[in-house]
Amino acid sequence: MSQKLIDIQIGSAESYELHLECTISAQGEVENSKLYVVGGPDLLELACVLRQQLTGPLTELVLPKGQSTAAIVIRELILKAQGQWVDPFEGDELCHCRAVATRLVDEAVIYGAHTTDVVSEKTSAGTSCGSCREDIESIINYRLKIN
Ligand code: FES
Repeated sequence: MSQKLIDIQIGSAESYELHLECTISAQGEVENSKLYVVGGPDLLELACVLRQQLTGPLTELVLPKGQSTAAIVIRELILKAQGQWVDPFEGDELCHCRAVATRLVDEAVIYGAHTTDVVSEKTSAGTSCGSCREDIESIINYRLKIN
């Protein structure tokens, strides 16, 4: 029997907040769970689907498909619960020319910036020497291709 606590909070203005607390049996079954989310209707809808799944094996939780913010954050929550999550970046600062934090780039991707140009437009990362554009692309690919 083990206890898992997972908290995800994204953004300040457009706040998405997810909190999952569950007890896992020795066989990997979810025995008790509490899922709390704050977000728009799309997040609440996906949270309902997830709640229905939180009665069986943790490994059988189905990752939602799609590129919406809600799908991206629910995937992160499930992967964290399963112990499969890998941060899509290393280091606090992604763009050294513009001093743009990696977290800011990641949040831009989560909130819909799904090309390097759009991320650059929203954050200014990648708008000088361009050497960080590959890292921006990696974050986009990681966030969008977990399907
Ligand atoms: S490191 Fe990002 S533009 Fe130079």
